[in-house]
Amino acid sequence: MSIYFIKKSKINKTLAFFIAFGILLSFISCKKTELGEYKIVKQSTFVQQAAVTAHPEASRIANEILEKGGNAIDAAIATQFALAVCYPNAGNIGGGGFMVYRSKDGEVNTLDFREKAPSKSSVDMYLDSNGEVVEGLSTLGHLSSGVPGSVDGMHEAFLKYSALKDWGILLEPAIELARNGFRLTERQANELNAESSDFKKVNSEDCVFIKNSNFKTGELFIQSDLANTLDAIKIRGRAGFYEGEIAEKIISEQINNGGIMRLEDLSAYHSVWRKPISFDYKNYKMYSMPPPSSGGILLAQLFKAIEEYPISKWGMHDKKTIHLIVEAEKRAYADRAKFIGDTDFVPVPVNDLVKKEYMKIRMSDFDSLKASAPDSIEAGKLESEETTHFSIVDKFGNAVSITTTLNGSYGSHVIVDGAGFIMNNEMDDFSAKVGVANMYGLVGAEANKIEPGKRMLSSMTPTIVEQNGDLFMVVGTPGGSTIITSVFQTIVNVIEHNQSIDDAVQNCRFHHQWKPSEVFIEENCFSADLIKELEVMGHIIETREPIGRVDAILIKDGKIMAAADKRGDDCVAGK
Ligand code: DON
Repeated sequence: MSIYFIKKSKINKTLAFFIAFGILLSFISCKKTELGEYKIVKQSTFVQQAAVTAHPEASRIANEILEKGGNAIDAAIATQFALAVCYPNAGNIGGGGFMVYRSKDGEVNTLDFREKAPSKSSVDMYLDSNGEVVEGLSTLGHLSSGVPGSVDGMHEAFLKYSALKDWGILLEPAIELARNGFRLTERQANELNAESSDFKKVNSEDCVFIKNSNFKTGELFIQSDLANTLDAIKIRGRAGFYEGEIAEKIISEQINNGGIMRLEDLSAYHSVWRKPISFDYKNYKMYSMPPPSSGGILLAQLFKAIEEYPISKWGMHDKKTIHLIVEAEKRAYADRAKFIGDTDFVPVPVNDLVKKEYMKIRMSDFDSLKASAPDSIEAGKLESEETTHFSIVDKFGNAVSITTTLNGSYGSHVIVDGAGFIMNNEMDDFSAKVGVANMYGLVGAEANKIEPGKRMLSSMTPTIVEQNGDLFMVVGTPGGSTIITSVFQTIVNVIEHNQSIDDAVQNCRFHHQWKPSEVFIEENCFSADLIKELEVMGHIIETREPIGRVDAILIKDGKIMAAADKRGDDCVAGK
């Protein structure tokens, strides 16, 4: 209802009333009805604070922490732990992620809590004796996990920026959700049922993710082991996970099942504060993740590639706009495959890759009428699907953009015995073999080969945009290789096509990643005429399931407008 009223009302006087009504509704948004169903609000305008996450329980919890005087960092920490309970496909303590933070004073910092390769890992660990990649080894089971970074990352963020200075308060809502349970949405029940056989392959049958009957919509999902694990983290902070009982449970699980992670890997894990990738585009400044994510570099490349072209005049889904973006994406993703890896291990020519002159050279063979064959594109010459995203803005004006993941949906599917949480399968983001595609079809090279202690290359692109020096957008998404595309297209929709944040998030997306050759488009979204026009230009078009699940906030005219992607159960909350 709030969606209808706020979108349709045009008259200023009544707008204030409707906004107030939207705000009123927002107090009941993301809460359960008496029947245990969720009220999922997809967009709303707030005046004080907003949170957008992948699950209504997590959005509610973020808003409650903000209400208790927490800042955006406090709310983000509580959200990360809540999502580990109520969105186990991707929310995690057994995975990792990236955070972009902008303080009310305009200080921007990024936190890399990406997983690391265990010290016993090796470049050929996923190859058979013939040097071929063994299918499934880097995606399912104990060998597919990197050393988790989320708990250290949250603790690090807490020490540096928390306003509440009370770690326990931030853990309690998640513990409560795990101990007393939460209601499964229809989507969640279906997903758990669909994943049942993979869970059975790598776990004993007595864990809560495996049942003899089907999971049902509205069913109460209780995770007692996870509640105890979160309790240990609440009491002992970082040490509650990386040392002692929980650490020992993680490592026995590994040792008993052919895994290579050891206690030293856990105790040695530390997240890292890194300087953001920042770049100007017209009167906007964007901040995003540096390596080991490729997100910030590619976002900068894409904006620099389109800057000279009148795409706002052409329109969002005009063949000229799509053709230009697709061609820019081919070149950017070719660079990703060759040059980008963990800068703690390999030199990455970051500054050169994001230079305007460099992108100009990369686009110099762009033919405005004809698609280029991906094989005709090489990386430039230089003198060099389930993740989750949440966006939060607090009443002080601080903003947090976090993308966090187990990699695939439910990661490795391994639930640490007695500890109740799922381990990631992030090792698949390394290139198991040069030129062989990973689960997102991305090919990699030397820069992203496996090395002990190295972080695997990522596409996660949590981003914050300023307009004329003020906070303007907080944005990000899951979607594997399509993350960069989705973040880019959402920002372009707002700043070039003048769309509301809701339209910018909900509109149809398309994607090219250099290899394979296809332009992927969302199903039932693009007209047959447009598809034909693009095919005539030489593009190979393929429809696919939804691209991305963007959760974004736009700050405009003193209002905080939040939008949650219709492609999931994502929900906005605020005040
Ligand atoms: O870091 C990356 O790029 C991937 N592990 C992200 C995976 C992902 O987004 C899956 N979500 N749909």
